[in-house]
Amino acid sequence: MKNKSLVSINDFTKEDYLRILDLASEFEKNPNQNLLDGKVVASLFFEPSTRTKLSFDTAISRLGGKLIGFSDASSSSTSKGESLSDTIRTVANYADLIVMRHPIEGAARLASEVSRVPIINAGDGANQHPTQTLLDLFSIKKTQGTLENLNIFLVGDLKYGRTVHSLLIAMSEFNATFNFVSPPELAIPNEYKIFLTNKGLKFYEHTDFEGIIQHADIVYMTRVQRERFSDPMEYEKVKNVYVLRKDMLDGTKDNMRILHPLPRVNEISTDVDDTPQAYYFPQALNGVYTRQAIIAAIMGLK
Ligand code: CP
Repeated sequence: MKNKSLVSINDFTKEDYLRILDLASEFEKNPNQNLLDGKVVASLFFEPSTRTKLSFDTAISRLGGKLIGFSDASSSSTSKGESLSDTIRTVANYADLIVMRHPIEGAARLASEVSRVPIINAGDGANQHPTQTLLDLFSIKKTQGTLENLNIFLVGDLKYGRTVHSLLIAMSEFNATFNFVSPPELAIPNEYKIFLTNKGLKFYEHTDFEGIIQHADIVYMTRVQRERFSDPMEYEKVKNVYVLRKDMLDGTKDNMRILHPLPRVNEISTDVDDTPQAYYFPQALNGVYTRQAIIAAIMGLK
């Protein structure tokens, strides 16, 4: 992992995931470690973020590193027409590591090809969000005690939801069974179904989840990604398609936990927040430890 970019979850092996999770557990016990002393990390967010940006910032601060960058591309020379390639080549002169989010699929891969320092993909369009996946794995392992043989329900926008795409690939290493719950317009893309079929894994597609989440170990809710729709009317048709309510949790398994990468719009009713099954806010905290672990692994600090 040392000096390697993390652009896609495929860039890491199952052993790499497990190593990151072990490191994340260490950082959870002891978060303040001066391992990044003298190092500079650039954080380039061309798209809005709360959790990913701020948890990376917190991770870098807790590791004693210095942070440069922007969270609004309009304040950078991108607004004058500078290419992504030129921006990355320039920033790579200033920083030892670049964390970037970009609305275009493949932007992080392009950046990794022109950068002389490692790139961490903090989300590229509807493609992937690998650091979210690693914190999701950490959250699943923490709540289930294992990553193996789990029944995962992925609910909502499975077409544009990049966190779903990365999580599916990672959980395929652990013999998961997948239940995809979406309207037909937001169904999981075929390439992912072919991927699971080729791996011999079971998956089922549903258009509703009432009455079936009783079988779930993990219910992974997602927001319908308004910003990915070219036609606003198409978004209006599907935006309220699933709402998880407290009464729907009756009869669910004791170990069942609800995850959501957040932000939430209205797909989880707020009366679910205080139930034992709700795990999305602790999940966001896990992002700090996991991102500390990812940085430490890539920078060869541990
Ligand atoms: N989960 C996630 O990527 O959230 P933000 O968009 O707030 O970073």
